[in-house]
Amino acid sequence: MRALVTGAGGFVGHTLAINLLRHGHEVRGVDSFTDYYDSRLKHLNADRAIHAGMDMIVGDILKMNLREILADVDVVFHQAGQPGVRKSWGSDFQTYVDANIRVTQALLEACVDLKSIDRFIYASSSSVYGDADVYPTTEKTLPRPHSPYGVTKLAAEHLCTLYARNFAVPTVSLRYFTVYGPAQRPDMAFTRFIRAALDGTDIPVFGTGEQVRDFTFVDDIVQANVAAAERAVEPGTVLNVSGGSSVSVNEVLATIAELTGKDLSISYLESVKGDVYRTGGSAEEATRLLGWRPLVPLRDGIAAQVEWASQSEW
Ligand SMILES: NC(=O)c1ccc[n+]([C@@H]2O[C@H](COP(=O)([O-])OP(=O)(O)OC[C@H]3O[C@@H](n4cnc5c(N)ncnc54)[C@H](O)[C@@H]3O)[C@@H](O)[C@H]2O)c1
Repeated sequence: MRALVTGAGGFVGHTLAINLLRHGHEVRGVDSFTDYYDSRLKHLNADRAIHAGMDMIVGDILKMNLREILADVDVVFHQAGQPGVRKSWGSDFQTYVDANIRVTQALLEACVDLKSIDRFIYASSSSVYGDADVYPTTEKTLPRPHSPYGVTKLAAEHLCTLYARNFAVPTVSLRYFTVYGPAQRPDMAFTRFIRAALDGTDIPVFGTGEQVRDFTFVDDIVQANVAAAERAVEPGTVLNVSGGSSVSVNEVLATIAELTGKDLSISYLESVKGDVYRTGGSAEEATRLLGWRPLVPLRDGIAAQVEWASQSEW
């Protein structure tokens, strides 16, 4: 396939790009290296993908001639976005609107009437659910985001569905549940916890640590994207991509202590506005339609991330 990976300097984007290249696909990557976190880390990510053969375009998607960039592409893996629940309040909201809603709309609009596009895969999020009444959440659960970030991810997901219905753009939205693994973003919990464990520094935990998350290893996320590109699915399809672990943050910390052999120094802080108490998704529909299921058990995935962190500067 000839793929366009947006957000190719990011955590998920570069991991996906490298995997596609290793399987003989052509990859064009796009990233503007935003300052949400240290852009040097994004350049390191992108460099690894460029080294593996990615053709990289640096710039803001909102300022690009997208028709030109998409001209010879079959599959769009749209991973670019402004992540993070905590920062999405206040004046930063505009950045979320631009990076998550407007960028997605611009890409979709550019795909209208482009017959070469076989699939447009959008990186949606479990944050569209907010605090649900029943767990695990399924794609039929009413989405009720609990953060401005979740609102923007849901809005972009709706755009994908309506460009599919109105203009037959072949979209699939994958709702990722907390992704972890090597090169996880530095603002995310596992990276912060593992780095602090290895360095012997204090670990700030937001809330009681009893909040439950469905963690998904990044290679499983990559495989879901590949399956969504290759399987025949109805345009506008929305699927949960969840790792199947319903585990508390405190349980994760205990696993990290065990795997690093360190005693952890943990400070519990006030919980953050916008954080939900629980995420947990059913992946049954992704299994039915894509033949996908998560393969990496949480402990193995954390071990891989610990090993990676002990050899990297993150
Ligand atoms: N990591 C997770 O746990 C998780 C969970 C659910 C959904 N998602 C979604 O998956 C996607 C990837 O997440 P990630 O963790 O890899 O984030 P990331 O921040 O590491 O990667 C996103 C990349 O998009 C780029 N970008 C942002 N705006 C851009 C623009 N206008 N033009 C070009 N590039 C732009 C950024 O520079 C960044 O490198 C995001 O859309 C995110 O919302 C991630």
